[in-house]
Amino acid sequence: MGSYLITGGTVVTATDTVAADVFIDGEQIAAILAPGSLLGAGLRREGVPVISADGCYVLPGGVDPHTHFEAEGQSVPVLDTFATGTRAAALGGTTTVIDFAYARPGERPAQGLDWYHSKADGQCAVDYGFHMMLTSCDAGTVADVDQLMDRGVTSFKLYTAYTGTLYSTDDVILRMLQHSRRSGALMMLHAENGPAIDVLREQAVEAGQTEPRYHARTRPAALEAEAVHRVTRLAEVAGAPVYIVHLSSAEGLGEVVRARARGVRVLAETCPQYLFLDEDRLALPGFEGASFVCSPPLRAKEDQEALWKGLSDRHLQNVATDHCPFCRDQRLPGVDDFRKIPNGLPGVEHRLEQVFHGGVAGGKISLNRWVEICSTAPAKIFGLYPRKGTLAPGADADVVIFDPHAGHVVSAKTHHMNVDYSVYEGQALSGAVRTVLLRGKVVVDDGRYTGASGDGRFLARGASITEP
Ligand code: URP
Ligand code: ZN
Ligand code: ZN
Repeated sequence: MGSYLITGGTVVTATDTVAADVFIDGEQIAAILAPGSLLGAGLRREGVPVISADGCYVLPGGVDPHTHFEAEGQSVPVLDTFATGTRAAALGGTTTVIDFAYARPGERPAQGLDWYHSKADGQCAVDYGFHMMLTSCDAGTVADVDQLMDRGVTSFKLYTAYTGTLYSTDDVILRMLQHSRRSGALMMLHAENGPAIDVLREQAVEAGQTEPRYHARTRPAALEAEAVHRVTRLAEVAGAPVYIVHLSSAEGLGEVVRARARGVRVLAETCPQYLFLDEDRLALPGFEGASFVCSPPLRAKEDQEALWKGLSDRHLQNVATDHCPFCRDQRLPGVDDFRKIPNGLPGVEHRLEQVFHGGVAGGKISLNRWVEICSTAPAKIFGLYPRKGTLAPGADADVVIFDPHAGHVVSAKTHHMNVDYSVYEGQALSGAVRTVLLRGKVVVDDGRYTGASGDGRFLARGASITEP
């Protein structure tokens, strides 16, 4: 691990945009220097290697707080491993991921965490942490949460969907929110009304409506909004913050906005699929629609506009990918019944570039807000700030050099995720990640991967900042 001087770029953080050089010493940022400073000149004389960022933005590495590498909870396994998925993340400028660990049936969450460490440790190309899914809550779950907090897992996902498997009832959710107020754990909610969705799904299949598009029709936005309303009310009663994962609709966002207006500490993420894709994709001919099945489902074009506005108005804090790829063949069991199509889409590689493209180049958000949404806010919310999420002396030297003019086209032929198609095939992006450093090591050099599996370290996380 050496030193580097990154010169000639524009440093962009959540708060500043400034022409500056960045001095990296070992694994950390040592100084942000005015261009041509005496210290910079001295470092050059001493032979510190220079990385040119001329014409580029220099920003903190991305933090993607929602991935599902090597998950086995659905009928077929997720294809990206921790090795392949984090390598794709690095190539897209994401230097930290937080994945969802879970316990297998009959096991406690601590055993689930051991299992996830055995999958990820020594494999990852970027730094990583875990959330824990809480799926079969019982009298011991409060102690499980405390135990995991001591092991650096400080956020937990509960579900109002998927009855019979992942689903939690309101009493369980309230108790966990009450405990989170005491312990400082952050509860994350998958908010869709599972029992009501079950009725609509059954009725659709009885009526012969078995194609992929009925996946979206049977999970209407009203049932996301209902669940967001309910869990934000429960958080209000508990006096605890709550984080809504993968928010997909204008109606759901409306409930977030109303809860925030009441003073509830609701935080929420959306995902690129809800910003760029709409429900028409599910109606593509020849079972192609199955490649776009995720939950919550893709929505209408108007929802995309509302979500962008939510990001700009600060009602939504993060864009996370919910990366959960299945190839086309893995979806075939659902050819006669959409309920059997595994849920989830690929995307971990493109988040930073997509939010720049749609948000900054699209005139919807500022450069600083882009960095905040993709790096700073998730680092704060998930207990990693200021080590991650900013460029400042003492922070980890996770740095992205981003060329705003290097347009490129997304394609399964060139992406690095382990999946045989792209939901964004043909999307022309207006900027590209050029170079990436992970704790001072160049892991992507001019678009080429130069890192190794095992470069990434487990991050024991601290408490959330719930007012990012
Ligand atoms: O369809 C999705 N989003 N699959 C991943 C699991 C989840 O609920 O986040
Ligand atoms: Zn979910
Ligand atoms: Zn997910």
